[in-house]
Amino acid sequence: MNAHFPAGFRWGSATAAYQIEGAAAEDGRTPSIWDTFSRTPGKVRNGDTGDTATDHYHRSREDIALMRELGLTDYRFSLSWSRVLPGGRGPVSQKGLDFYRQLADELLDAGIRPVATLYHWDLPQELEDAGGWPERATAERFAEYAGRAAEALGDRVGTWTTLNEPWCAAFLGYGSGEHAPGRTDERAALRAAHHLNLAHGLGVRALRAALPASAEVSLTLNLHALRPHTDTPEDRDAVRRIDAVGNRIFLEPVFHGRLPEDLVADTAALTDWSFVHDGDLAAIAAPIDSLGVNYYSPAVVAAGSSAAPSPWPGAAGHVRFVPLPGPRTAMDWPVDADGLHELLVRLRDELPGVPLLVTENGAAYDDYADPEGAVHDPERVAYLAAHLAAARRALADGVDLRGYFVWSLLDNFEWAHGYGRRFGIVHVDFPTGRRTPKDSFRWYREVIARNGLPP
Ligand code: NOJ
Repeated sequence: MNAHFPAGFRWGSATAAYQIEGAAAEDGRTPSIWDTFSRTPGKVRNGDTGDTATDHYHRSREDIALMRELGLTDYRFSLSWSRVLPGGRGPVSQKGLDFYRQLADELLDAGIRPVATLYHWDLPQELEDAGGWPERATAERFAEYAGRAAEALGDRVGTWTTLNEPWCAAFLGYGSGEHAPGRTDERAALRAAHHLNLAHGLGVRALRAALPASAEVSLTLNLHALRPHTDTPEDRDAVRRIDAVGNRIFLEPVFHGRLPEDLVADTAALTDWSFVHDGDLAAIAAPIDSLGVNYYSPAVVAAGSSAAPSPWPGAAGHVRFVPLPGPRTAMDWPVDADGLHELLVRLRDELPGVPLLVTENGAAYDDYADPEGAVHDPERVAYLAAHLAAARRALADGVDLRGYFVWSLLDNFEWAHGYGRRFGIVHVDFPTGRRTPKDSFRWYREVIARNGLPP
């Protein structure tokens, strides 16, 4: 098969504000739920916080120089809401905006398209104190923030993503409690999911009002590639349940303006969904220009019962996850590139006419700099090569895939795992902040230069 990608294919890498910026208390930034959560003993491995992270706030020039060396066409980053609007609501912070203005300008000077995500999980703490995502007002605050950010940066940032992985924000944040704000309440998690959808829809409207017509407006979901353990009706129904609360809870409102009927039935003992108001679904279905997909691993699902507290309201008690055999990353996630192909082909069929981007894909391994200062990460190279080959197969099968972003440019704060899980193609020595490109960096540079996989 031709290993080349279509002309104009977007080659990116991705990061997120709380995971890389540091400077947590500088230039007027107020705390987000991740500042609070990471300072709560027992929530993040090793007591790590994002106070300094990779210190990207002070090293962005050096990081852009690395991106230029890599040959990126696009760089996906997120804005810190509480840097742009301290406390979560107006007025805007000029200093906060200046950081992103300068970042965008320097990217453009380097010939790299800025791709900005508005929400990558760092809700201003004040908004959580007022009830957080289970409350409707949070969606309204988000739309205001989206409008302000677009007014300030829309002349230089052409691609905007409202939310990153709202499934994690809702169900890990409010359901299982593994992520900030650490609540364990299935009802609150379902309300949060709806209000994240609403935030997306109102956010799209605010972005369109502030941005030039040429702007691209998008959403990134961590869609779950699901396989039944056996081909029995019971295991297929277990997949249906996870698909409802894991995937279709976002896909159906956003692309079809409706709630999944089976999800409403599955969750009837928890909620009557009366928090969905007239007009919400129409607002959520505001047209978007592309869909971002984050993919790491597939999941095998069987009828059964898994442990609580669960991030799967309406499925808990009916499903269990069956471990996949084969190699795993340092996250203990299975390596299985076919899942990416399966997911992309599904979206080709279900969402005809919607251009797709793989906005995250990558792997954590226990990398270290050897005495000569080199970082050899052959497993990451193999992981990325297999997934790019799967993406290339999807293109050959008619998937309208426009780009691919490696997670991540830099080793960074991996949420509840802290700094112990390294996803970067650039190694970061956290005590000093020193950056060392890994072998995977050089490999990816070659992929980009060839616009395809090396032989
Ligand atoms: C998805 C998230 O968007 C990102 O923040 C995280 O670091 C990676 N997955 C790896 O877990």
